[in-house]
Amino acid sequence: MNQSEKAFQSPVGTHDVLPPESTKWQETIALFSDVASRSGFGLIVNPLFEDVGVFQRGIGENSDVARKEMYTFTDRSDRVYALRPEGTASVVRSFVQHHPTTPWKVWYFTPAFRYERPQAGRYRQHHQLGVEAIGTADPFIDVEVIAVAWDFFRELGLREIDLRINSMGHEDCRNLYVDALLQFLNASSDRLCDEHRESFRSNTLRVLDCKKTDCVSVTTDGPQLPDYLCAECSEHFSAVTDGLSVLGIPWSRDVRLVRGFDYYTRTTFEFSSRALDSAQNAVGGGGRYDRLVENLGGDPTPAIGFGSGIERLLLALQAEDGARTGTPSCRVFIVDTLKSFDAMLLASELRSLGVSVERAYDGRSMKSQMKLADRSGAELAILIGEQEANAGEITVRRLKGAADEDRQFRIARAGSAQVIMDLLQEMAEQ
Ligand code: HAM
Repeated sequence: MNQSEKAFQSPVGTHDVLPPESTKWQETIALFSDVASRSGFGLIVNPLFEDVGVFQRGIGENSDVARKEMYTFTDRSDRVYALRPEGTASVVRSFVQHHPTTPWKVWYFTPAFRYERPQAGRYRQHHQLGVEAIGTADPFIDVEVIAVAWDFFRELGLREIDLRINSMGHEDCRNLYVDALLQFLNASSDRLCDEHRESFRSNTLRVLDCKKTDCVSVTTDGPQLPDYLCAECSEHFSAVTDGLSVLGIPWSRDVRLVRGFDYYTRTTFEFSSRALDSAQNAVGGGGRYDRLVENLGGDPTPAIGFGSGIERLLLALQAEDGARTGTPSCRVFIVDTLKSFDAMLLASELRSLGVSVERAYDGRSMKSQMKLADRSGAELAILIGEQEANAGEITVRRLKGAADEDRQFRIARAGSAQVIMDLLQEMAEQ
């Protein structure tokens, strides 16, 4: 590269995830896959871009994300697409396209793109783990979806999580409430913050999300959502919260929780971490969207889901327990001073038995290879030197938790992969 050319950087608001940090991502995704599969959700993979209408109609043209944050582009055939700002609308587009049998329960791991002001925990490309359950209005599925999130957070090791839950009612309750709120705000608009004084007529519910004291105090005096719920919506809400209590999942009602997309009806919920700064403490959120399938061209079909940002989860874990370290990248490190094919062969034998193996390259000195072995976090170092090779043996050195006299010993090279496996097993059980 010409000296005067500047090297490229990742785009503003995005980040590279490199090893060993990426090990935590692998574990988190694997855990989510496990928890979701246990509840009958199957993996779905959708395109990263869709016709822009999927999101405009899906999440609502008036939502902040559709108005200000979407990455849209025109392709070479003049089609207008958008990078997905979230997962739900694409999953519903795909449901309408393929007519799967219901209830249809899917989980995903996807990048999401939003042109936001980047800061810690807020990115222009973030990554969501989520589930969607389409085709039933049964409150048990609301409980099940919330329980998947809760179990996942707990199994991940998060302890300082709050669940807030609300009901927005079905479309009629919601419209009644929006009308009442609009009327109230019309009369008190001079008390709103600058932004919402401008926008409350087109985006009335957003005023409830505003954290500024002006808006909070106005809306506290105004009409409250629970007073506008019909008997059926109230009953649905009680069935969901009763179910959560039966499962021992702690919850609190937040009557201001309306969430940022227009598709929500009835149950809405959010998980926040007490360990994170309040501006970016939402580690997951979701709710019912009983009209979205219809809005995207399907038959009326109730549905519910949630999404959780992996970056926020890992920040919350770190904030709760800064000392937690990632899993080492390997269990066995092969130190080879002969530059022999045998190191390669033994690594291959162990790897095919499922053991993670690292080794040094470039014929480094024994001392420098041993340093790398120590740093790798491996439990065992295998030494292949001249003496070992002549005797048809290898040296096994325990790098963790052994008395001096047991630390290092020789074994026959033949059959050594299985012996090493057994030893690792024994060490794991101690
Ligand atoms: P959301 O609340 O916009 O909901 O995003 C879900 C989660 O993604 C948030 O709770 C947060 O953890 C993470 N997140 C959102 N934006 C960012 C960002 N800029 N940087 C880092 N993390 C972020 C949805 O997207 C809905 N699709 C959830 C859903 C699924 N509702 C029903 N089904």
